Amino acid sequence: MLLVLLRILYLATINLKQMLTTKRNKFTLPPNLAYLNCAYMSPLLKSVEKAGIRGLRKKRNPSTITTEDFFYDTELLRTAYAQLIHAPEPRRIVIIPSVSYGMANVVKNLPVQRGEHIIVAAEQFPSNYYPWKSLCDETAAEVKIVSPPDGYINRGKQWNERMLEAINTKTRAVAIGHVHWADGTKFNLEAIRKRTRDVGALLIVDGTQSVGAMPFDVQTIQPDALICAGYKWLLGPYSIGLAYYGEAFDNGRPVEENWINRSASEDFAGLVNYKDTYQAGALRYEVGEHSNFILVPMLLKAVQQLNNWGVERIQEYCRQLSAPAIESLTTLGYRIEDEPWRGGHLFGIRLPDGIEMDKAKQMLLKNKVFVSYRGNAIRVSPNIYNTGHDLQRLVKALTKSVGLTAAQR
Ligand SMILES: Cc1ncc(COP(=O)(O)O)c(C=O)c1O
Repeated sequence: MLLVLLRILYLATINLKQMLTTKRNKFTLPPNLAYLNCAYMSPLLKSVEKAGIRGLRKKRNPSTITTEDFFYDTELLRTAYAQLIHAPEPRRIVIIPSVSYGMANVVKNLPVQRGEHIIVAAEQFPSNYYPWKSLCDETAAEVKIVSPPDGYINRGKQWNERMLEAINTKTRAVAIGHVHWADGTKFNLEAIRKRTRDVGALLIVDGTQSVGAMPFDVQTIQPDALICAGYKWLLGPYSIGLAYYGEAFDNGRPVEENWINRSASEDFAGLVNYKDTYQAGALRYEVGEHSNFILVPMLLKAVQQLNNWGVERIQEYCRQLSAPAIESLTTLGYRIEDEPWRGGHLFGIRLPDGIEMDKAKQMLLKNKVFVSYRGNAIRVSPNIYNTGHDLQRLVKALTKSVGLTAAQR
């Protein structure tokens, strides 16, 4: 008996060690705000802010900015991000200013013709829709939009099934997120990868709403491209993101021709000895002036911090934090996707019949609960700076919305 008790105690200690505790003191969020909106934009880590200020000040005296500085932090950033997404070749990772830029490189190198199609999920984020729309308009191909079922029972499961059914030999690419940006519905990328491979289609993933908070393994999923903005779950600044391009893009043409992406660009004196070849891996796709001395060190600090905490642990932290709130809200009649089909860090709440969105918004605002409204869902997206108290405030506000509506009937 004693041995069993000791074992339980030992396991509990391990579990405690592995669980993350709140990291709110590493940020400067106002104390009275329940900020549940990382899907909109993450707050700034203090360490990231400091890195930005250091970078800004560096240009006070340009004589201290060396040739190596153009390459050094960018290489560190590739390596740190490669660790985060389990990519074996860091030089397949490039710096981009936005998701639309990363997608533009994909679209430029994806031949498609009349009769073929590109698959996207319904109401997908515009930067992962317009590039495909424009490509298909030019080539008379089709953007095939896969919608969820109308009801809320087994919605995520059925949406995934529809996605797999839509893929056929006319599919040139499936371009989706790991989770849907509006309500966190999770897509089974492994299954989609298998199906796309069977028919010879590419898998292009927008990781903006998942990478950094939900594990992503390049070696398991084997995407042809993974495009990700840096200012949400990567905890970085605005206007910098990261793109991974697989072998399908090895001999492609980038959307712009920049000096630093050509071979031997480290030799500044020899830059006008123009080169026909590019730097190794996917570096041809990197945005011009990517050695941004402010944004790169900031994103680097953020990604290093994420590696240090561990993405699996962040996902588990968010999942455990949200679980009691999800249970309470479901009991009140709010509709939330089943656990296997939603992100632990991002979920949509759909209102019970008869509750007006304006009432819910009013209550959340009054209680200083900061969330987003996307489509017909209240989008809730906690991260490691949140505590159980923040989620309780969400429940309190939404409980009052139900009460208010009942009182008015
Ligand atoms: C899924 C997703 N992709 C991309 C973006 C940002 O796109 P871009 O970097 O092109 O502005 C967002 C912003 O909300 C998003 O939610």
